[in-house]
Amino acid sequence: AQQKATNVHWHEGAITREDRHALLGQKGCTVWLTGLSGSGKSTITVELEKVLVMNSRVCYRLDGDNIRMGLNKNLGFSADDRVENIRRIGEVAKLFGDLGVITTTAFISPYAADREICRKLHEDAKIPFFEVLVDCPLSVAESRDPKGLYKKARAGLIKNFTGIDDPYEAPAEPDVTVDTSKLSVEECVGEIISFLQSRDILP
Ligand code: PPS
Repeated sequence: AQQKATNVHWHEGAITREDRHALLGQKGCTVWLTGLSGSGKSTITVELEKVLVMNSRVCYRLDGDNIRMGLNKNLGFSADDRVENIRRIGEVAKLFGDLGVITTTAFISPYAADREICRKLHEDAKIPFFEVLVDCPLSVAESRDPKGLYKKARAGLIKNFTGIDDPYEAPAEPDVTVDTSKLSVEECVGEIISFLQSRDILP
């Protein structure tokens, strides 16, 4: 077992979150997308980021595949590793929110309990956290199969693949649901933008 740090104490800075937000001219929040592999999370966050930047918002996109090439490259897809993957992303998004950035996340984040931990982390820090379900039937995600991973999972070449032999727990009460089997990418982004406007994140 890893040794945990003891005798650590929070060190307050001289500059507050409000100071940072005043400098940036915006407040931070996290827009957390969850959904099956191939549901369209990454595609949506790429377009969402463009619209946010067009609205002069500083934002940052955290994407599953990308983060697994750096910060989380020591993690795989076991249940424990997925928990740790999402825990770290929740913490990073919270830091960015403290900075004043709008963070979008595109992770399968298959376990409801882990997403709830991230929500709680944000709520305790008073940073808005919005959960977006990127919904589509498994059959549609599987037919898209942009990386050929479902094919490999069906052939038994990839173990613990979400939706095939690993669970996906859809949120019961997401803030926004976009069905990518019915809506275009632009329509999905429009739904998210409308929601952010309703929460005064955007004018
Ligand atoms: S998780 O469950 O939130 O920790 O996963 P995430 O960090 O989002 O990474 C998902 C991407 O990793 C690829 N991949 C797998 N996904 C699910 N299950 C298994 N076993 C697996 N192995 C590799 C896949 O490209 C996922 O990307 P997306 O964009 O979701 O298709």
